[in-house]
Amino acid sequence: MKKIGIIGGGAMGSGIAQVFAQAGHSVVLYDTNQEALDRSKQNLANTFVKLVAKEKYTAEQAETIQNSIEYAQSLDAFATIDLMIEAIVENLDVKKSVFKQVEAIVSEDCILASNTSSLSIASIASSCENPSRVIGIHFFNPAPLMALVEIIPAVQTREGLAEEVKALIQSVKKLPVITKDTPGFIVNRVARPFYGEAIRILEEGVADAETIDFAMTSLGGFRMGPFELMDFIGHDVNYRVTESVFEAFFYDPRFKPSFSQKRLFEAGYYGRKSGRGFYNYAEGAEKKAPNQEQALLEKIYKRILLMLINEAADALFLNIANREDLDTAMTKGVNYPKGLLKWADEYGLENVQNDLDELYNYYHEDRYRLSPIIRNMVKENKSFY
Ligand SMILES: NC(=O)c1ccc[n+]([C@@H]2O[C@H](COP(=O)([O-])OP(=O)(O)OC[C@H]3O[C@@H](n4cnc5c(N)ncnc54)[C@H](O)[C@@H]3O)[C@@H](O)[C@H]2O)c1
Repeated sequence: MKKIGIIGGGAMGSGIAQVFAQAGHSVVLYDTNQEALDRSKQNLANTFVKLVAKEKYTAEQAETIQNSIEYAQSLDAFATIDLMIEAIVENLDVKKSVFKQVEAIVSEDCILASNTSSLSIASIASSCENPSRVIGIHFFNPAPLMALVEIIPAVQTREGLAEEVKALIQSVKKLPVITKDTPGFIVNRVARPFYGEAIRILEEGVADAETIDFAMTSLGGFRMGPFELMDFIGHDVNYRVTESVFEAFFYDPRFKPSFSQKRLFEAGYYGRKSGRGFYNYAEGAEKKAPNQEQALLEKIYKRILLMLINEAADALFLNIANREDLDTAMTKGVNYPKGLLKWADEYGLENVQNDLDELYNYYHEDRYRLSPIIRNMVKENKSFY
């Protein structure tokens, strides 16, 4: 069993601590804020009251797990850890200074990982004397419930470390995928069109949010429609991610943010948490009934799905991850009903090509350009699986 040091006792750090403690590792959770540590400890205690009531754990096991987490306001205990996972604010300068500070305390063999969602691992690693031990380990929220973990070796990361980390992540009963150190890794890159294309359809006046959501849940089998989901995530978070991915991709128009969402963000209409987003969550507010015209629903569903498939295919084309990992990431990281490459095969690659080319020919916008991998595969009569 290993000793894991976690920096940041917020939503992610606390969840990650729970994952490792449940798997039998000993954990030190460090935060500069004592209140955050107290909250984290109390939340975990509340969680285990429920888990014991549901008979997932005995009271004794629950106590052992909770006792295996040490809550610390000093980094002293980090001298003996095997792996550090940083889950503090999403700010490059702050993360770099923490990595530098930690590297001076830990042993030479200690692996240093960041749970960043959007920063490059290479830039974080550059703050270390030995950047070859730095890697991204990206959990999803809530970490104890979401199976997916993206593992991101940086250009500096030593050969073999990604595989070692993968084995460790599997041993704590999570599903690791390996991805290149490019913006949004897999999930936050491939999922962009689910939001972006839905908003575009809304802005063009093709349909309202209720109808677009209904198309994606009823025909696509998605658990939530894009507008419900954005309101749930919060436009403060979702808009910022969209903007940072767009910038990080050197302003590739495929990832262009929308004014509709920017205005919601600026207005403080963050979604559920603020009572208003695309929808109104005030007491008594009612949602409009969706338009159930089949041809319209079909058109919306296909347009968003095509854009998602194209994004996943392009990620494969650019070797961001392998076929299986790309599909696992979307089914386990954001609960898509099917992997997008599998879905592409079902849709028929020639249909994907024809339907996307039709959108491209209509709009003449780069966002609708077909990934070359699909055109090549159609030529060679191939499918993804
Ligand atoms: N929330 C998500 O959905 C999610 C999902 C995946 C990854 N992430 C990433 O995980 C990281 C943490 O996100 P979060 O949502 O848990 O944030 P959070 O705000 O809930 O928690 C951050 C914690 O870090 C502590 N902290 C800040 N600076 C510190 C420092 N210098 N040293 C020690 N502790 C410090 C804060 O006191 C706070 O308790 C971010 O990089 C974020 O991008 C978040």
